[in-house]
Amino acid sequence: MTAPAQISLTRTQNPAVKPADASLSFGKVLTDHMFIMNYTEGKGWHDPRVVPYAPLSMDPATSVLHYGQAVFDGLKAYRGADGAIRLFRARRHAERLNKSCRALCIPELDPELVRQSFEAIVAADHDWVPHAPGTSLYIRPTVIATDVMLGVHPAHSYIYFVICSPVGAYYKEGVKPVRILATDNHVRAVQGGLGEAKTAANYAASLSAQQEAERAGYTQVLWLDGVERKWIDEVGTMNIMMQIGDEVITPPLAGTILDGVTRNSILTLLRDWGVNVSERRVSIDEVMQAGRDGTLKEMWGTGTAAVVSPVGQLGYKGEVISIGNGQTGALTQKLYDAIVGIQYGRAEDKHGWMSEV
Ligand code: COI
Repeated sequence: MTAPAQISLTRTQNPAVKPADASLSFGKVLTDHMFIMNYTEGKGWHDPRVVPYAPLSMDPATSVLHYGQAVFDGLKAYRGADGAIRLFRARRHAERLNKSCRALCIPELDPELVRQSFEAIVAADHDWVPHAPGTSLYIRPTVIATDVMLGVHPAHSYIYFVICSPVGAYYKEGVKPVRILATDNHVRAVQGGLGEAKTAANYAASLSAQQEAERAGYTQVLWLDGVERKWIDEVGTMNIMMQIGDEVITPPLAGTILDGVTRNSILTLLRDWGVNVSERRVSIDEVMQAGRDGTLKEMWGTGTAAVVSPVGQLGYKGEVISIGNGQTGALTQKLYDAIVGIQYGRAEDKHGWMSEV
């Protein structure tokens, strides 16, 4: 691996007015700068730079617009009580971006340079990291194919860019359980497909099932496997975990689900705490039965945006089970508090997950 190239910086001459922290939601406001780097065949990745945020100009025949050769990732920078700005597991996100690149035939990036791109953009826009409790700066690295051609094959040119958005607290009034609907009408992924890549297509593929769930009064879809339509995969855009009896179960990384950074962090904490954790297949029938007989104690989604999202109700084939009386479970809350404590620099970072910008 070659040493990371120098990242150049061109500051904006027209800084935008920053919104008040209290008005922030998710992803609507973008910061003053962006990181960008090009890939050209023969030359590799080149010209890493931080520049003023600006639209990308594209030929209508640009390949990403037609065939979706696009990957992204998402991580956050947090302003600690001590004023320091820290990234959560930046290197792991850089490595996951490369894994997604491999799945989409996109040339890999130097993960150290990707990590440095996160630091460079956050350093340039450090004033944009909000201060209010629970707020953060969401960082969105993305790679897209930029060949101008309509043939279907891996492109010969790409851009890697990173944009940032100050985001509000996900839970403004405390962690709140959601209603989820298990569906066997739609599938998100199959073995040998793109399920473990963070690629645009997976999100496009989720939209109609999500709409159907919302029309039925649910918040998210619980995805079942694409072959037998019985094994639980993910929930919405998050990984899923549940506690049945004294066992915490999460589906294994077997090709159809995303290797979530929050998933991995939570499994690490649970093992630190001596909790009985299994990464194993779990069927919707097992979960519904556990719901009926009272052994399903807690269920929660895990992801960067929410950290944890407790499940209060689960619907499947016309039956609805209530989990923990629709309240956030004690373990879910403990996991949320532990992760958020590390992210905001209040708790000891035993595993070295945080890096200061
Ligand atoms: C997450 O952080 O949970 C996500 O993947 C959501 C993102 C696609 C907006």
